[in-house]
Amino acid sequence: NSTEHQCMQEFMDKKLPGIIARIGDKKSEIKILSIGGGAGEIDLQILSKVQAQYPGVHINNEVVEPSAEQIAKYKELVAKTSNLENIKFAWHKETSSEYQNRMMEKKELQEWDFIHMIQMLYYVKDIPATLKFFHSLLATNAKILIIIVSGTSGWRKLWKKYGPRLPRDDLCLYVTSVDLTQMLDKLGIKYECYDLLSTMDISDCFIDGNENGDLLLDFLTETCNFNSTAPPDLKAEIMKDLQEPEFSIKKEGKGSF
Ligand SMILES: C[S@@+](CC[C@H](N)C(=O)[O-])C[C@H]1O[C@@H](n2cnc3c(N)ncnc32)[C@H](O)[C@@H]1O
Repeated sequence: NSTEHQCMQEFMDKKLPGIIARIGDKKSEIKILSIGGGAGEIDLQILSKVQAQYPGVHINNEVVEPSAEQIAKYKELVAKTSNLENIKFAWHKETSSEYQNRMMEKKELQEWDFIHMIQMLYYVKDIPATLKFFHSLLATNAKILIIIVSGTSGWRKLWKKYGPRLPRDDLCLYVTSVDLTQMLDKLGIKYECYDLLSTMDISDCFIDGNENGDLLLDFLTETCNFNSTAPPDLKAEIMKDLQEPEFSIKKEGKGSF
């Protein structure tokens, strides 16, 4: 019930062609590294834009993805998609830091023309070190594309207010684009920002015993079984806030986040 992939699609259609306009100039092969590529839907959209920009040029697409399940889905998607003839795929079942360590052990670092990290930096422990490392792998005219929750979104407000009271495990960090731009400034890395507007219908969260609503709450709070395990006062406060205009907007009678 989220427009996330839809608004990413729009970004890929409207903005990505400009971003990748020069990545393959004077190159016989374009090398793309996908970090946390998941099931590959967004990756294939990116690849089709690169193909359109550089028709017939061979593409080497490598994916760093720790989940075997996601890799299997990605492979399935590739198998049933046409027009991928000039693309070579390879998957590495590992995290970005495992990839980094593996590469550091090699004498020669491989260079890339396009690296993307889409909705995955939340799971990276040392983001500055990761950015620095992958930035050092960029070839001439190469770029990195990062997509992450916006600093102006309901997510940031929710995480900022309640983050300290939510069970924070090692697996997920409440990081947003504001934190990211600060890190990039510190590292002295040049960047451009684009705001993508997506909404999510959260009405189900307010229906008692609604399974979808419970899952949505887990998702919003990055907590497993939030509804049944959270302290009642915390739950009451969050549920109240989620209905406030500051966090969500009412659209066609539905609560959108
Ligand atoms: C929210 S999904 C995004 C998937 C895809 N990029 C998309 O936008 O549809 C995050 C992905 O990052 C992967 N991931 C989690 N921790 C990671 C890490 N430390 N390094 C690389 N990928 C990771 C997950 O397995 C998952 O497939």
